[in-house]
Amino acid sequence: MEHKAYLDYAATTPTDQRVVDAILPFFTERYGNANSLYALGRDAARALEDARERVAASIGARPDEVIFTSGGTESDNTAIIGLATAGGRATGHVIVSAFEHHAVLEPAWWLGKHGFDVTELKPRTDGIVHPEDLAAALRDDTVLVSVMHGNNEIGTLQPVRELAAAAHARGALFHTDAAQTLGKADFDVTELGIDAASFSGHKIYGPKGTGALFLKKGVRMAPYLMGGGQESKRRSGTQNVAGNVGFATALEIMDAERPTEAPRLAALRDHLVERLLGEIHYARLNAVDAATRLPHIANFVIPGVEGEAMLLHLDAAGIAVSTGSACSSGSLKPSHVLLSIGCPVEFAHGSLRVSTGRFTTEADVDYLVEKLVPIVERLRSMNPLYEKTVAELVGAKG
Ligand SMILES: Cc1ncc(COP(=O)(O)O)c(C=O)c1O
Repeated sequence: MEHKAYLDYAATTPTDQRVVDAILPFFTERYGNANSLYALGRDAARALEDARERVAASIGARPDEVIFTSGGTESDNTAIIGLATAGGRATGHVIVSAFEHHAVLEPAWWLGKHGFDVTELKPRTDGIVHPEDLAAALRDDTVLVSVMHGNNEIGTLQPVRELAAAAHARGALFHTDAAQTLGKADFDVTELGIDAASFSGHKIYGPKGTGALFLKKGVRMAPYLMGGGQESKRRSGTQNVAGNVGFATALEIMDAERPTEAPRLAALRDHLVERLLGEIHYARLNAVDAATRLPHIANFVIPGVEGEAMLLHLDAAGIAVSTGSACSSGSLKPSHVLLSIGCPVEFAHGSLRVSTGRFTTEADVDYLVEKLVPIVERLRSMNPLYEKTVAELVGAKG
């Protein structure tokens, strides 16, 4: 499938050729089971432990604090359920932010149905969960807090260090979902003072179905996958040696290239924002007031159009973008992220997430705006409610 402009890097990334080259031998010649005692197995185990050391070095952790998983979803599920129920605990209070990925929300809701009390903490309209709001929500029986590091839809970066400190001050553990930020923003577990963090390989040009969970030494967690006791009994299942080598290699490339890549993407984003807001009447940048944001994600509301219709017209022009998160596409519900920051439902339906990456050029971004302007005009002209309601609504606010 040829795309003229792939602008959905927050959904997934192509696997970097350097990563593919690094992992190929593990499918054919170096295929041992890392738990076998003979030479082929020991070779796989060495490659696995080397990958673990490389991931640990990148995030400022000890190697034995890195548990390889199948990606962000598994890491989130394991952390939320495993930390809350550690040691056989069956009750307690859990706080998650209201704009978490569903990989955090769903296990939190599951806990809510199985003896725990769950609070969904709202971010403010700037797309940030403020530490003082967390402090007010914490209780003596709060056992776990989870607030994501970077939001996957609007790209805002959360004050994780301050949030973790607030949780610890009341005796609660702190987990953060860093699936969108690993390799793209500074991330050091010691500096952030967190207990657990989730990572995904396919967001950083690594293979799909790879990732890790950071778990601070000494923190108790009930395992989610049980069986052969791999990963020091914290995640059973024969390890994905090729995938984990790929994940570690991808992360090293991200770290090496970030000093030039992050400013390049930030400049591309600013160029896109300026052009799109300048050329599409009433378009707005979501969470415009955020003090800190990721360089590769911009989320707009374009009043008077349906996100899905816009997406399909852009697809016909060879452009891949997203409306809301990829995981919730297929449902016509407005994004819970946009609603959580106070975006009106009518506007949330017309959201457009543009996310850039390693192979994005200014020409891609310009091509998007060029194609989008007439698409929005056409969709608005076909919307009988546009003039009457939406223009009035937006017009009233300028
Ligand atoms: C913030 C966030 N958490 C978790 C996930 C899930 O990660 P994975 O696709 O590796 O399961 C994603 C992917 O969309 C994400 O953006």
